[in-house]
Amino acid sequence: MTTPNGVGLTSVLVAEARARESRRADRLFEDPFAQRFVDASGWQPSAESRRTTADRYGFTWVSLRTRFLDDVLREALDDGCTQVVLLGAGLDTRALRLGIEVPVFELDTAEVHAFKRSVLHEPSSRVEVVADLREDWPDTLRALGFRADRRTAWIAEGVLLYLSAAEVEAVLTQVSALSVPGSVFGTTLTPAGYLDRIETPAEPDGDPLAPGNVAAMWRSDGPADPAGWFAGFGWRATVFRPGERARAYGRDFPDNPNPNRLLVSAVRETPAPRPDTGTPR
Ligand SMILES: C[S@@+](CC[C@H](N)C(=O)[O-])C[C@H]1O[C@@H](n2cnc3c(N)ncnc32)[C@H](O)[C@@H]1O
Repeated sequence: MTTPNGVGLTSVLVAEARARESRRADRLFEDPFAQRFVDASGWQPSAESRRTTADRYGFTWVSLRTRFLDDVLREALDDGCTQVVLLGAGLDTRALRLGIEVPVFELDTAEVHAFKRSVLHEPSSRVEVVADLREDWPDTLRALGFRADRRTAWIAEGVLLYLSAAEVEAVLTQVSALSVPGSVFGTTLTPAGYLDRIETPAEPDGDPLAPGNVAAMWRSDGPADPAGWFAGFGWRATVFRPGERARAYGRDFPDNPNPNRLLVSAVRETPAPRPDTGTPR
């Protein structure tokens, strides 16, 4: 078993955050598998890296977004979505944690899947989708049983910022084309201008998951008007600041000076565009 490198390794950082949250008496969720991933990864953060990661990268942010997207997903399934797609699934264990019985298509790289499979042996409804979000992933998804005529709950958690703005646009175009009305899209977004405000330098010889090294992998900010941006693709989006969600969950998280990321829950409103056949509609 090999621990993923580069952007794939960031999934271990998220597992560390979930393992910490799971040990709290007032936990927002319980992920009994997260510590296993951290242990198997062999990741050894320096004390300094662990401290700054907790302070600045924000384990609390991961806890908030996990709980938020758990709720989005549960509601989508209760409301009639019959398949789930996790874009950049990493070490997400929702298929098991939430006892999901419908297919959970987990899209990520071959090395992340191999690592995950080596740690997670429990039977579940998860389906491994080895694909790159910058390439033609919808065909791979369909070949594994995804049905574009069924309502889907999509989750893109902590992944869009690793793509360029053009790649994010392409992903949302593809997701929209695969989504019948009533489908749900839950995601994290980075506020416009966020990348310009990052002050943590990369440490080429340091812990690969030191805050500056993770930030060095981020490629794009989110749109300036997230709800308007989603509306342009035919989605009705509700956008939350993490501080607002934190208060709803009984947690403390400053809105300022840390606007941090955004949490989005969107519902597909308009029919998916039909392929351009060259004939007038
Ligand atoms: C920070 S982790 C988040 C993982 C997961 N969504 C979670 O919250 O636990 C980012 C994940 O996105 C995946 N990823 C990044 N870019 C990708 C791409 N172009 N195609 C597929 N997966 C990608 C990485 O391999 C990694 O597992």
